Formats: sequence, structure tokens, C-alpha cells
Amino acid sequence: MKKIVIIAVALLSWSLAKADEGMWLLSKIKQLNIEKMQQMGFKLTAEDIYDVNKPGIKDAIVGLGNEGRPFQHFCSGEIISPNGLLLTNHHCGFSAIQAHSSVEHDYLRDGFWAYEMKDELANPGTTASILERMEDVTERVNAKLNDNMSEQERAEAIQQVSEEIVAEAVKGTHLSGQVQAMFEGNQFFLFLYTIYKDVRLVGAPPQSMGKFGGDTDNWMWPRHTADFSMFRIYTAPDGSPAEYSEDNVPLKPKHYLPVSAKGVQDGDFAMIMGFPGTTERYITSFGLENTMDVTNTIRYEVRTEKLAVMREGMEKDQKTRIQYASKYASCANYWKYSNEQNKALKNLNTMGNKQAIEREFTAWVNADASRGIYKNVLADIQKGYADLKDLSIAKTYAEEALAGPEAHLFAYRTGRAFEKLCDDATSAADKEKLKEALKLSAQAFYKDFNTDVDANLFATLFKIYEEKVGAEWQPEIIQVINKKYKGDYNKFAADLKAKSVFMSEAAFDAFLEKPDMKKLEKDLAYQAGKSFFDTYMKISASGAPINEKINRGNRLFVRGLMLMNPEKAWAPDANSTIRMTYGKVGSYKPRDAVFYDYYTTLKGVMEKEGPAGGEFEVPARLKELYAAKDFAPYGADFLSVNFITDNDITGGNSGSPVINGEGHLIGTAFDGNSEAMSGDIDFEENLQRCINLDTRYMLWIVDKYAGAKNLINEMTIIK
Ligand code: ARG
Repeated sequence: MKKIVIIAVALLSWSLAKADEGMWLLSKIKQLNIEKMQQMGFKLTAEDIYDVNKPGIKDAIVGLGNEGRPFQHFCSGEIISPNGLLLTNHHCGFSAIQAHSSVEHDYLRDGFWAYEMKDELANPGTTASILERMEDVTERVNAKLNDNMSEQERAEAIQQVSEEIVAEAVKGTHLSGQVQAMFEGNQFFLFLYTIYKDVRLVGAPPQSMGKFGGDTDNWMWPRHTADFSMFRIYTAPDGSPAEYSEDNVPLKPKHYLPVSAKGVQDGDFAMIMGFPGTTERYITSFGLENTMDVTNTIRYEVRTEKLAVMREGMEKDQKTRIQYASKYASCANYWKYSNEQNKALKNLNTMGNKQAIEREFTAWVNADASRGIYKNVLADIQKGYADLKDLSIAKTYAEEALAGPEAHLFAYRTGRAFEKLCDDATSAADKEKLKEALKLSAQAFYKDFNTDVDANLFATLFKIYEEKVGAEWQPEIIQVINKKYKGDYNKFAADLKAKSVFMSEAAFDAFLEKPDMKKLEKDLAYQAGKSFFDTYMKISASGAPINEKINRGNRLFVRGLMLMNPEKAWAPDANSTIRMTYGKVGSYKPRDAVFYDYYTTLKGVMEKEGPAGGEFEVPARLKELYAAKDFAPYGADFLSVNFITDNDITGGNSGSPVINGEGHLIGTAFDGNSEAMSGDIDFEENLQRCINLDTRYMLWIVDKYAGAKNLINEMTIIK
């Protein structure tokens, strides 16, 4: 009997062992996490990860961004050589690979490898941030705030003191800084980054490997994807960040990650560092209802239609397929997420969990008269969401449907420049400059634009908006469609295509030669763009006072929760700042009677093979290499492809390094599992998994598939 119990416990242990929630702030690891991490198998110290006085692992962690919004890191990456070689996901490099692709050089289809540094491709506008240091500035910010301030006053005070803090910190340096609110505005941290601006594409496998499984396998385990691409960071000759220049040199990083070819075992320690984008772990049941019934439902509904229109165009020819590849992929990514998240939220009764926390909170508030400030918090939030409902519906449809096509957005964006161009007061020299600038933005815009696809998007998506949104929030263009075209959206789209100067580059260029304000104002795309923005501003303005109340409620709710449970180590929600999460490699049970192993192999790629051109196409060369079983030194009888860990990550973490107890790279994180897609709202201790590319598959592809020995040679590979 006893023996049976012991065996049963051992068998169950993988499902009983709970994972640790938390995307932790690096400056708090020593205080909050390191002991636990070391118990789990981490052999280094907190200072080896992050220390203000010496280089550490954090110096190898990169946040990828775009010029103009460098702090909104869309992905993460890691430096893996002394020459600034940067490893990230294929889906993170996707838009760069797409931008360099054409029918003649289809790097999406064929892959791309620079066998010499001179062949690496520049990506103007892409930024790479590396954290210099961070600091808790809560006291200094809170000194300017009090509970009697209006939300508006509070926001202004925070902005002012944040600007002061950043200005002092970056003075006389090349650093860029940002103060970020944590815990719904209860704490504040300063982050100082070096932001590099010359990031070149080095390598990418073909999409059939880098995106193997496509949308069918996206957000799913078991997975078999080589989701990686490589870049290199360049600096000015003196090592400082600089825009692209031929004189730039490869970054000499303060630290780079040795790459382990030793592989992983079930239960191994795993740490992930990167830039998670957004989680909402402290959202109330009322907010959750809005996420499920409004945001997720509408996003899934509208994008289903949008994707169908794009797909129809992409199936027609290779040019359109390349043009829309990146737009399609990013639309599809959160289309599937929204649907899977709603399913998981229902299956896992996340609403019930939130309500239980709220009951506990209410009991705590009622237990002590001094907690009066928290008395109405939940009722206020509830009322806020009730008041917001129609606006929230209109706003989501506006973002998904009205902003679904593109020509009108471009028309509106260029409107001011045309105004100046048509103004007699503008000098001839300035007019030339404006024209040049307009020409350049048109080139960039129309490079990935197809007239028919966009016209069809107008017809499909504007109609959905009219049908689904109340009369109060209809933009003027809808009236035009109803009057002039008797509500026939296809006729409207046909006229738009025939007459608008924004529906093709040729029409735009011709208009640029003879700009005319009267014509602009009558232009259907311009009208659509202007009325979209007017409507959107109106919706946002109406929602602003309600959102202020909800935000205040959320802030007090979280403040109360933290007071209610002062012993707990609290982790702030993700907000695009650098974080660390620790956990371990491990299998899981997605459903009753189903067991998912913790790794997949190249055999599984062959098992999934589907028709050429489809999501499961396997390139001939990969099949040959597989048949030859030439895996050494990255595998013996089989080659490991992907593996899973129970780390707490989210979107934005894509491309983050998975690091073992010795501080070596064992994988690159690239996805989460659909069964726990609710995880951004409520961490699922037993079910949530992080899907990673095994470094051995990456090395094998670079070495054997691509033959890029130049890249292998610059890494430090631990065998
Ligand atoms: N779900 C992944 C993420 O958000 C993106 C995966 C891209 N792959 C794909 N087949 N669409 O990070």
C-alpha cells in the first residue's frame, strides 16, 4: 500500500509541482528570488544577473523596438558572440526579412544567410536596447502625489517628476531613460538603456522552417518550429550608438551568452530574461468581462473577415503574398489568441477566481473602519465598466474594422503636408522638401500595398462597423456611403478604387505633381480617414472620464491587495520593461488522459509534413539531412527541436534567452500554449508552458543546413 502511494506521488509530482508566477524586476532579485532560484538549480548569484557596478547577464539581453517608440519593445533577443551577434525569433525578424524580400530575392521563402559581415542587411528604424541600470524611484514620485488629487492632476504630476528624474539621469551620457509605473501606478521605476540604432539582418531559415506549422500550430504544443533569426548590432567606431553607417563596427558587448549544446532534461532549472509586453494579472472580474465579451469577441470576429480578404489577395500572386505576409501574420497572431484566450478563461473559471479575490478584498475592507478609502473601489469599477460598455464596443470596432484598411489612414497622415504644400505662404524651397518627404513616405507605404486588397477591406470591414455600432458613433463616411451608394459597400469600394488618389502609388504621384486642396477634401479615402479619426477621438473623449475612475479604482484595489497580504512577494504586471522569470523544464497534462512530453524532435517535423506551399511544407534539403541522420555534435540518434518550461512569460518575451543554471543559453522562447492562454490574466501554475527553440536545433541549422561556419565560429559553444 505504502509503496503504491509513493509511486503514485512520484508519478503525479510533475503535475503537482507548481510553477512560480512572476516577471520579476532585476533590481529585486537579490531580495525576492535568488534563494529559491538557487534551490532550484541556479549556480550563479544575483549579482551575476544584474549589478550596478559590474557587467552581468543583463548586458546580453536586448529589447527590440522601433525608432520613435524604442521603449515599446516588440520582441526580445540575446547577444551570443563577442561581435554583437543577436539571436531572436523568426517571427520577430519577420518584418525585416519581409522588407528585404522581393519576387527576385524571396528571403521569406528561401531564407537568408550572410556568410560575411559585408553582406549583412541594414534595417533603418529598428532599435536594440540594453539595460544600463534601473532604480526604484517610488518615494520621489509619491512625494508629489496625494489621494485628493484628480486623476488628471496626478497624471501631470507624475509626468513632470518623471521628466526631471530622466533628465538628471541621462545628463552627459548617451543613455535613454524612462520612468515606468508598476502595480497600477502604486510604484515607479527608472530604466536607463543604451539604444543602438544599427541592427543588421544576418540570417534566417526559410519560412517553411522558421514558421513551420503556421497559424495551425501557432500558440500550440507539441511544436516543431525553427523560430529564429539572427541580427548584429553595430556601433560607431568608439562603441557609442549610431545610425547606420559604413564606418560602423560590430558591437563589443559587455557580456554575451555562451551557447550550450548539452541539451535539457526534465526538471532542469531555466531562467528567461526579456521584455514582456502586457499582462493584466490584477484585472477585476468587471474588467475581465469586458475583455471576454467585447475585446476578444470583436477582435476575433472582425479579424476572421479581414484575414479572409487578405488571403484571397495573397493567393493570387507571389508579389501580393510577400507584400501582405507580415501584416497577415501579425493580424492572425492575436486573432487566434483572442479566441483561445476566451476558451481558456471559460475552461479554467478565471472569472470565478477573480470573484473569489474580490470577496476576500471586500471582507478585508469591512473588517477595519480605517480602510474606508477602499470601501467603494469595486463598486466604482463595476459602474465604470457598465458606463463604458457601448463606448468600448464602438472603440474596439473602430480599431479593428475602421482601421482595418490602410489607404485612408495614409491619406489622413499626409493631409497636413498637402495643406502646407497647397498654401501660397509656403516657400518654393519648403515645397520641394515637402514633396520629397511625401514621395519617400509614399514609396514606403505603397511597397506593401495592393489596390484590390485594400478596396476589398474597405467594402468588408466598413460594412461590419455600420452593422455593429450604434448610430451615435457612425463616422460621416458611412452617411456618404448610404446616400451616394445606397448602402452598397462594393460600389463604394469600386469608386474609391477608381477615383481616390491614395489607392495606388501612380495616382498618388500624379496628385503630388498637381496638389489641390479641393480635390483632397473630396477624395473618398481622405474623407474616410478624416471621419474615422474624428469618430475615434469622440469615442476616446467620451470614455476618458470613465476610464479615469476605473484607473483610480484599479490603483486602490491593487494597493489594498498588497496591504492585505504584506508578506507575499508581489510581481508587477508586464509593461515592456526588462524582467526575469525562473522555472524549470517540464511536461504537462493539457486535458484528461492526455500527456505532453517536454521536447519534440526532427522526426516530428517529418511526421507533420504537408503539401508544398502549405503551412507544413518541409524543404527538400531538410529531408535529406534528416535521412542522413547527420546530427553530431548537436544530437546523436535524434535531434531535439523544441522544448517547454514553466516560466512566466508573455508576448514581447518572444526571442528571449532560456538560460540554464550555469548561465548558458539552452533555448530561445517563442510561444505559449493555448490551454493556458488565460495566463496573461491569471497565471496557471500547472498548465502554463513556455515554448522554446532548442539551441541545438538552431546550431544544427546554422552549421549543417546553412553551412554558416562563420557564425558558428564566433559563438562560444559549450559541448
Ligand atoms: N504566438 C507567437 C507570439 O505571439 C508568435 C508565433 C509566430 N508564429 C506563427 N506561426 N504565427 O509570440
